[in-house]
Amino acid sequence: MNFNNLIYDVTDGICTITINRPAKLNALNIETISELGSAFAEAEANHEVLGIILTGEGPKAFVAGADIAEFSNFTPTEAREMAENGHETFDQIENCSKPIIAAVNGFALGGGCELAMACHIRIASSNARFGQPEVNLGIIPGYGGTQRLVRLVGKSKATELLLTGDTFTAEEAKNLGVVNYVLEPEALLPKAREILAKIAQKSPLAVAQVLKLVNAYYNKEENGFTEEVNEFSECFDTVDFREGVTAFLEKRKAVFTGK
Ligand code: COA
Repeated sequence: MNFNNLIYDVTDGICTITINRPAKLNALNIETISELGSAFAEAEANHEVLGIILTGEGPKAFVAGADIAEFSNFTPTEAREMAENGHETFDQIENCSKPIIAAVNGFALGGGCELAMACHIRIASSNARFGQPEVNLGIIPGYGGTQRLVRLVGKSKATELLLTGDTFTAEEAKNLGVVNYVLEPEALLPKAREILAKIAQKSPLAVAQVLKLVNAYYNKEENGFTEEVNEFSECFDTVDFREGVTAFLEKRKAVFTGK
């Protein structure tokens, strides 16, 4: 398949989807989110594919977030549409019947951290850096981060990370249970392939059932996701949102007023 923002490859039963906007640190614009939906649908439907790796192009970033320049002028209605589309794609990833490993090869911030958390397993290179810094822009995570971070690290640490916007290293991510392994950058994709090759020897039916049932454990939190879409779009009606994104684009520190 050909995409504007992704590289899609199937080799030896493993599909590798690489987000390919390195000049923008692989930031997720609307088109990339849409292409991710198509790429995962294609990989899930392809009988040759037994497992999927998601990674970012270049040495610096997995995904540095949603594309701030693109959403900087969104109205609350457009922000709602953005969050709903993102939720749909990330839910599709989480509910895929084939195992998906996020090979996090650098920054995984905001939407990038949320995207990694939507995958079934995460492994990281030693230079990876995670976080939900949306609060620095006067907004909140809009692609499931308020829910999936709590699931992964627990309420107390998630609350601290979501409120401070602090980023954390690959080693800290391992200690928090966000990633399973930390490897040198060149060892990242081989390790992802090794895990998927092992899983590929099992019954695809059993694999699909395990994935479905692990997700079933969390279904009770469904309302939190809906609430996140509502609150995310409301952020776009504030002075603080305008100040947050303008400060980022002007490469200065934001000054928030609570309006
Ligand atoms: N959306 C849009 N563009 C982004 C982006 C994002 N989330 N993250 C990085 N970029 C762009 C930068 O604007 C810059 O573009 P330019 O060269 O045209 O100016 C380019 O990617 C390189 O980023 P830069 O900031 O110069 O790299 P850095 O190494 O100095 O800093 C980060 C890296 C990740 C710390 C910094 O880019 C950053 O803070 N990004 C935003 C993270 C964020 O808030 N994500 C959540 C969004 S909801």
